[in-house]
Amino acid sequence: MENNIPADIKDINLASEGKKRIEWAAREMPVLSQIQSRFAKEKPLKGVTIAGCLHVTTETANLAITLRDGGANVLLCASNPLSTQDDVAASLVADYGISTFAIKGENNDQYYDHINAVLDGKPNITMDDGADLVTAVLTSENPDLLSNIFGGCEETTTGVIRLKSLANEGRLKYPIIAVNDADTKHFFDNRYGTGQSTLDGITRATNMLWAGKTVVVAGYGWCGRGVASRATGMGSQVIVTEVDPIRALEAAMDGHRVMPMEHASKIADVIITLTGGLKAVDRSHFEVMKDGAVIANSGHFNVELDIDGLEEISNGKKEVRQYVEEYQLDDGRKIYLLGEGRLINLAAAEGHPSAVMDMSFANQALSSEYLAKNKADLKNEVYSVPHEIDAEVGRLKLEAMGIKIDALTKEQDHYLNSWNFGT
Ligand code: NAI
Repeated sequence: MENNIPADIKDINLASEGKKRIEWAAREMPVLSQIQSRFAKEKPLKGVTIAGCLHVTTETANLAITLRDGGANVLLCASNPLSTQDDVAASLVADYGISTFAIKGENNDQYYDHINAVLDGKPNITMDDGADLVTAVLTSENPDLLSNIFGGCEETTTGVIRLKSLANEGRLKYPIIAVNDADTKHFFDNRYGTGQSTLDGITRATNMLWAGKTVVVAGYGWCGRGVASRATGMGSQVIVTEVDPIRALEAAMDGHRVMPMEHASKIADVIITLTGGLKAVDRSHFEVMKDGAVIANSGHFNVELDIDGLEEISNGKKEVRQYVEEYQLDDGRKIYLLGEGRLINLAAAEGHPSAVMDMSFANQALSSEYLAKNKADLKNEVYSVPHEIDAEVGRLKLEAMGIKIDALTKEQDHYLNSWNFGT
């Protein structure tokens, strides 16, 4: 118990540093801040309890404060054992009265204890980054849990995939809004946010020079293309591996070399996985890597690298720097695994810059309001973020950046909406 609210955090004395950093992030989140001001007046979430399983960062803190100001009772836990910023967790409890259950480096049991702790708060809305809360609710033996919930929001690609698969099997028991799929989310957060912060995480962990390196990017989705373009900008030679022919073609025409991982792993200085899938780098790839290769994952789960396979071919490992483990292979080669194969941008750096999370979390806040207003009309399906919300977030962000754009004249609009011109 901290501040008389239920919580489990590392150290309450870190609160003052956390508060400074939360306020610094807020400077770069003007869209969320406008929503916060409106929420504070209108209280659209009055009486609603929201359980968030998100990366506990400065940006998430600003989202939690916005929801709280909208009248919600907010409880937070971590969506990854390594992504919590302990000073932020402390400040949320001490300065903002938000129940937070998250400790950086928590073990598997603590991770699930914390998920259960937020569910003990009897949420009406679940807010996930990776669908762990929904999964815990649906597998719980407590029927009251489900009866309180009227909706949920999902932040990331991997979570949306899991939830759509539950819905297809008819096992989703409440409506979910796929925040990830909003244009103002994945076009920007996944591409520019993951692009920048993944390189930031690897740089902080290793202090390596990107110029001149051969960098292999596995997966050319929204995240992968962001990482590839930024690595190119830093002077790396980028190789992309893909399983989708269209995405592979895009990578090739964006100027990257494209080849199977079997070949890429032999020449890589650095390999980064962002596939959302399983074992993009497997034992056979580790077997042929160059001495000194650096391997990191920035996809949601730590399953993109076959770490068991790496352990099998290694005769020892040691931590040589924070977040860097050196694996020694029988023939003397060394391979460096970063951040235990977990999201490197959150493990070794601070996650996405606030300016991009501004749009993602504006979508989260407005989607929660939408769920509260429309709960009676929604089915147990995965919904897109309503277009009006997506467009409004884009409009507000442009405005905040001081960018004006043209509007169609009546004549132009008529032309674009008619079939009988141009003959
Ligand atoms: P996406 O679906 O747009 O792209 C994934 C790409 O990987 C696809 O083009 C797919 O064909 C390719 N792929 C799948 N298996 C592969 C394999 N074995 N080898 C090579 N390519 C393969 O997904 P998006 O939005 O780029 O997300 C990727 C992952 O990153 C997800 O797990 C997502 O949840 C996570 N993510 C992580 C963030 C972070 O902060 N690090 C932020 C946002 C998303």
